Amino acid sequence: MVEAILGDLRIDLNVCAAFGGHPALCVYPSHEAMRRARQEGFATTMLPAISTADCLFADLGVDPGRDGCRMFDVTEFLARRPSLDPQTGLILFQVGTLRRRGALRSLKEMLCEKYPATHPVVIYEAALVTTWQPFIRRVALSSLQPSALTWVSTLYLPPTKRPPVDREMAERLGLIRSTRSDTDLRQ
Ligand SMILES: C[S@@+](CC[C@H](N)C(=O)[O-])C[C@H]1O[C@@H](n2cnc3c(N)ncnc32)[C@H](O)[C@@H]1O
Repeated sequence: MVEAILGDLRIDLNVCAAFGGHPALCVYPSHEAMRRARQEGFATTMLPAISTADCLFADLGVDPGRDGCRMFDVTEFLARRPSLDPQTGLILFQVGTLRRRGALRSLKEMLCEKYPATHPVVIYEAALVTTWQPFIRRVALSSLQPSALTWVSTLYLPPTKRPPVDREMAERLGLIRSTRSDTDLRQ
């Protein structure tokens, strides 16, 4: 794909490459084609678009500004083992690649180091056509099976619990009065 894009640029065509969802999210050829085109002196622009994450926030009613949200390509996640914070949401893309034997077990083992085995995991597929319904299935982390995943599945792990309000900071910012409880944070 990178060579196809660059090949057309090199014969002086104006090139527009379209990718599914947001061109920056989990799309190697978009980043690589732009990097190499710039290196060769071509002007490049990436335009934003609606990603799987945007659809997921809307369909699951998730506000990533409230609890935070981290997202990874699942292979990067498994290979690099970033620190896990179960107090923020977690989105894992390309989980369809885990359908081969053993890989999903490795993911579950890694997640179970920080999440309870009963923690709900959402298997999510955004509707491909706006009049269709999204596919949303909640299963316990320990019950997640390869057969439940497809090539368009994305996994979402909601936070286990919200961190408590730092009362001193909240008071300093005028978000709370000392007599009030955590739930009375001013919006
Ligand atoms: C190569 S990445 C491309 C992501 C895309 N650029 C985006 O912005 O959504 C493919 C992965 O995106 C996710 N994905 C793509 N289409 C989806 C859909 N309709 N519902 C849920 N996840 C989807 C899946 O995790 C899939 O494995």
